[in-house]
Amino acid sequence: MTFIRLAGIGRSVRLPDGSRLDILTDIHLEIERGEHIAVVGRSGSGKSTLLNIIGLLDSPTAGTYELDGQPTDGFSARDRARQRGATFGFVFQQFNLLPRRSATENVAAPLLYASGRQVWARRPAARAMLDRVGLGQRLDYLPERLSGGEQQRVAIARSMVRNPTVLLADEPTGALDVDTGSTVMDMLERVVAQSGTTLVTITHDLSVAARADRQFRLDHGVLSPLTTAELPAVTARRTVA
Ligand SMILES: Nc1ncnc2c1ncn2[C@@H]1O[C@H](COP(=O)(O)OP(=O)(O)O)[C@@H](O)[C@H]1O
Ligand SMILES: [Mg+2]
Repeated sequence: MTFIRLAGIGRSVRLPDGSRLDILTDIHLEIERGEHIAVVGRSGSGKSTLLNIIGLLDSPTAGTYELDGQPTDGFSARDRARQRGATFGFVFQQFNLLPRRSATENVAAPLLYASGRQVWARRPAARAMLDRVGLGQRLDYLPERLSGGEQQRVAIARSMVRNPTVLLADEPTGALDVDTGSTVMDMLERVVAQSGTTLVTITHDLSVAARADRQFRLDHGVLSPLTTAELPAVTARRTVA
């Protein structure tokens, strides 16, 4: 069954001068469990707004969004928060790590809010997740001692530690150089594939998008499929040491 179904989704805001800005217009998108889809678009095209709607951080002003067969417009604020925590993990361009906390403490942080999780159980889960992203040797490092690529790995471990059904990645390689970004994407794809996690990657980089199962372009808030002819050939994937 389709896990995420957006039908005729729009998002408008009223600007201070009284005019209306249509950020997203008539978006139709269906995503199955375990798929990897990518959305490319220029800055300001509405990518983050779309991702925030999917992740229940924002609400559409038109259309319907069904999550696992349930219309989300019936959700109370509490339902939305619960569903968000249970279903979605988020990775952002800026890693947003807690600066004075170790890698382990950063990854354990989301488990503070998970019900029924004892304090003693959090650290081993965080350590195991850091090991999966190749940072088993950096458990006690503060973010300032880690490279950009390593910080993004910590952020990915944090996003995956509650085993989300869907990982939403908003320009995950946007702050990294090309080689580091490619290595981080290798790792991200490997970790989500191992868990069967659905991955939605937002990017302005066509070579990052080319790695997904399906690709879309967002242009001034209008979503359309990308053809393979528009994508660069995917080069052989490097494996992460
Ligand atoms: N709450 C808001 N109020 C007014 N304008 C907004 C709001 N949210 C987003 N926008 C505008 O909508 C457009 C799309 O934003 P965004 O989704 O962040 O684009 P992207 O992530 O593709 O750069 C931008 O022009 C942005 O300034
Ligand atoms: Mg954005």
